[in-house]
Amino acid sequence: MIQIFSTIEYLKEKRSRQWGALTGLGELKLGPKKRLKLELVDTGLNIIGRFQINYLRLLQVINWAAGYSQEFKYLPLQDLRVKLGKVRGGMKINSIDGQALNHAPDFICYLDTKGNFFWVNATLLKELGYDSHELIGKSYEEFIHPEDRELAKARFSSLLNTQESNPSEIRIKKKDGTYFWGWVVGRILKQKGKVVGAALTIRDITERKEKEVEKIMRQRLESLRLIWEGINHDVNNAFFPIKGILDIFKVLRAMAKENPNKALEILNQMEYLEKIENSSERINRLTQKLHYFANFSGEAKVRTDLVALVEAVLSLMRGRFDRAEVKVIKHYPKSWNAKTEQEEQVPILLELHFNGVQVMLMDLLSNAIDAIVSRPEYDFRPKEIRILLDIVEEKEGKMAAIAIKDLGKGMSYEEQQKIFTPFFTTKPSGKGTGLGMTLAKHIVEEHGGKIKVYSKLGEGTTITILLPIDQSRA
Ligand SMILES: Nc1ncnc2c1ncn2[C@@H]1O[C@H](COP(=O)(O)OP(=O)(O)OP(=O)(O)O)[C@@H](O)[C@H]1O
Ligand SMILES: [Mg+2]
Repeated sequence: MIQIFSTIEYLKEKRSRQWGALTGLGELKLGPKKRLKLELVDTGLNIIGRFQINYLRLLQVINWAAGYSQEFKYLPLQDLRVKLGKVRGGMKINSIDGQALNHAPDFICYLDTKGNFFWVNATLLKELGYDSHELIGKSYEEFIHPEDRELAKARFSSLLNTQESNPSEIRIKKKDGTYFWGWVVGRILKQKGKVVGAALTIRDITERKEKEVEKIMRQRLESLRLIWEGINHDVNNAFFPIKGILDIFKVLRAMAKENPNKALEILNQMEYLEKIENSSERINRLTQKLHYFANFSGEAKVRTDLVALVEAVLSLMRGRFDRAEVKVIKHYPKSWNAKTEQEEQVPILLELHFNGVQVMLMDLLSNAIDAIVSRPEYDFRPKEIRILLDIVEEKEGKMAAIAIKDLGKGMSYEEQQKIFTPFFTTKPSGKGTGLGMTLAKHIVEEHGGKIKVYSKLGEGTTITILLPIDQSRA
């Protein structure tokens, strides 16, 4: 195989009367005694080589030549057709119809197995502003956005090794230093059954990408607006009773100076503390939920006993259960202790985002309470919520199971379909933001778990959560 040419000795052009077309004549020095004569015409390019030459190298030569001569850059190569007949040495080389490639709407480049350019089409040069000698012989990596380089490298080596092409979206540098989004598809180049490089077709998809970014920004703004509306309303609703109670306290304080007994009587009659408790709980739940929306994975996981966590949540919510007169029935895993001859509670240990799971459990329980409270009046079933904790064997491995089963009003099929949609709520304004279930799903998925809803209108709802136990060992 011929060594890569080092210089182009001369390359001149002349008008060929005979052809009536612009013709270029060139000679390329390929080695001390090796020369390659070229004849370029606007209808095609005939290369008369006297040497055995790899046609990929030949393309490189043409490009090189084009890069050296402005006139040759586009015009003579417009109709690039490389024809190599039988050359001495006996190698028959296919003719390449370069016209389609050179002026294809997409950018096309050929890379050798090391990832160095040896041929690029005119569209690429023109649109990206490069001269061919600025690319030929250089590694493609230099032209890839640093953030996309790993992806590009992985795709290129998998293309060479597996000969499979996965289209990828990669940012590529133009001559002016700016980047464009390229949709890159590769195909392997073979010669005599051996992989000699890859041909890449690149489509500029910047416009589509920018639209995507714009769309995401618009969606974010829209959800920000919705969140703001939701919070604004909720916080105001939660603060309203506190403000009212403070006003009453001021009046009572003034009254207490003249008629302390009367003031005390009024104070005892009113359910101030419960109202404040309600309001502060609502604000607290809301801010916690928002915190998790803004910062899901910010919290580190801690080894937790699920049974103890559920107990803690229940004790935090005791007031709510009592006010709603809802009874909790608990089923925790137990084992028999032969020594004490008693049943003992078994802990369920796993790594959890503690606060996230706590907020989620509070939300699920509070949904269950709401569902019981809003049952129709003729529904005389007991006001009950069952909490079942267990360790189950799923196909993914061992999982901690939490089931919250309520005898509440249940959900229609349509409601069940929308339950995880942000801001979907059937609760009166100021009572629900419709973020509880959305957040629950996020938190469960963040743990690599699953959440299932089973509900029947008029009968009740069971929410089951499965959290992997083995992930904690990873
Ligand atoms: N256990 C349940 N029984 C009946 N309906 C439920 C139950 N859990 C959720 N839902 C329905 O799903 C809707 C969405 O629930 P989600 O927890 O996401 O929001 P929310 O409770 O309305 O508001 P938030 O939780 O943000 O305060 C509820 O409004 C309710 O209609
Ligand atoms: Mg809720």
